[in-house]
Amino acid sequence: MTSTPPELIAALARIRPDVQGMHAYAVPDSTGLLKMDAMENPYRLPPALRQTLGERLGQVAINRYPGGRADDLRAALARHAGLPAGWALMLGNGSDELIGLLALACDVPGASILAPAPSFVMYQLSAQLQGLGFHAVPLAADFALDEAAMLAAIERHGPALVYLAHPNNPTGTLWDAATIARIAAAQAARGALLVLDEAYQPFATRTWLDVARADAAAHSHVLVMRTLSKFGLAGVRVGYLMGDARLIAQIDKVRPPYNLSALNIECALFALEHADEFAAQAAAIRAQRAALLDALAAMPGVRPYPSEGNMVLARVADSGDAQADAHAAQRVFEGMRARKVLVKNVSTMHPMLAGCLRLTVGSAPENAQMLAALQDSL
Ligand SMILES: Cc1ncc(COP(=O)(O)O)c(C=O)c1O
Repeated sequence: MTSTPPELIAALARIRPDVQGMHAYAVPDSTGLLKMDAMENPYRLPPALRQTLGERLGQVAINRYPGGRADDLRAALARHAGLPAGWALMLGNGSDELIGLLALACDVPGASILAPAPSFVMYQLSAQLQGLGFHAVPLAADFALDEAAMLAAIERHGPALVYLAHPNNPTGTLWDAATIARIAAAQAARGALLVLDEAYQPFATRTWLDVARADAAAHSHVLVMRTLSKFGLAGVRVGYLMGDARLIAQIDKVRPPYNLSALNIECALFALEHADEFAAQAAAIRAQRAALLDALAAMPGVRPYPSEGNMVLARVADSGDAQADAHAAQRVFEGMRARKVLVKNVSTMHPMLAGCLRLTVGSAPENAQMLAALQDSL
């Protein structure tokens, strides 16, 4: 290693100390492994469609900034989602970007973000990066929302923004509709926002958009976020945020003008023209989820939790000693990796998850390989 020049030492000192103290978001190396760690769709497009897509992308004028096709994509997504009357839609380079933009848009002195825990890590990270407060409200023991605790925390902290991942990651839980309604009412009463993050909507039995469509006027403070990642385009990076047109117009001001590449846009338009193909894939994944849950439930020493997403949270160690359970889950995780299957060890993410692994629902052969690796690693 070469010595650190004084200019670099000085330059590094200009980077925020809290950022220097952070760990970077780690994407594990999956070379040679069956990738079951990130809730990706296991299915690719049929070869004929891949060929057509390639030809179509070849026609894109990549010498130009992305233009009117972004409007075409917004219109296609609005049709696809069934956008409520009076609502508008903005695009993000994945939902991750939208989560960052929401923190940026709400950054006034004293503002904070609140979410149940465990849930999607980017809610907290976006608050931290933007210098906003973050309040995590533990879920109930069965991973349902602790409504009383959520309402008390909203009352106490008055968060600008409440996030509900619906269904939740990593637990796969779909929240009780009446509880969501009361949280929405609590945020409305304080003049604050609620975001329903429906990343896993293709695999869920309910969407909150039905509530919005039934009475959009009563829900002008609620935003619904979706992504094409779990739909089958994780590599393309397209997320979208829907809400009252007046609210979306304000949030859209903090979006970089060309945040989606012309290739992302064209690829997403192509995918939406073939939405039936992706709907069939989602149906296959839902069927595989049921089979995976049955197989896990039949495995001694494993407790799977019900899921409305394309992942299953499974407890593989349950001694009641969180540290011992986390160690045991790490051993199972490593055993699976040695057998060429990469899952996500969520054991240390939250005390309630000690002893838990998160398994992506794959195709039938992938699930069989994952189950065999799990069985052999227990
Ligand atoms: C609840 C939730 N929201 C959003 C995302 C991120 O989606 P995207 O790939 O669009 O950035 C994820 C990714 O796992 C997620 O679990």
